[in-house]
Amino acid sequence: MKKNNVILIGFMGCGKTTVGIRLSYRMRRIFEDTDKLIEKREQREIKEIFAAEGEGFFRELETQMLSELEQTVSSRVISVGGGTPVREENREILKCLGTVVYLRIRPETVYERLKNDTTRPLLQGEDPKGKICELMEKRKTAYESCADFIIDVDQLSVEEILEQITGRVGEE
Ligand code: S3P
Repeated sequence: MKKNNVILIGFMGCGKTTVGIRLSYRMRRIFEDTDKLIEKREQREIKEIFAAEGEGFFRELETQMLSELEQTVSSRVISVGGGTPVREENREILKCLGTVVYLRIRPETVYERLKNDTTRPLLQGEDPKGKICELMEKRKTAYESCADFIIDVDQLSVEEILEQITGRVGEE
């Protein structure tokens, strides 16, 4: 059965964490961020996990964390890493966890927001713009297929995004 968490998904830089924290205040709920939970458990940053163990290892930790949340939490706001919905197994867990909100963003906006970021290992190569477009193209069906609803965030303030989410979640 579907639980009553609100889960934020979307590409890196779409605002999952910022929106998630503000949403949790607004809804008086506890906020969880799977990347932060993984970092805490591993006692190291995501970029260190990628560098030392590779992406595959990180993806295993991600799936494990997600299924633990599914078994243990309810009534929370949860933000997950940008790559989480790519695995079909994860999409199934996301759907069971609660209402899935996809914060959709254009590649140009991601690039503008993250061009000076050093914390995302997947965007540290020669051509971050090309990488953003490539990953976005590969992932968009996965994001759309597990979303209960989609918000196009490029032109919206955090406040406007919150209005849309609380309006829609209330209707469910
Ligand atoms: C990733 C997104 C990151 C983090 C890791 C991999 C991805 O999270 O999980 O660097 O594959 O898109 P954010 O979406 O919070 O940046």
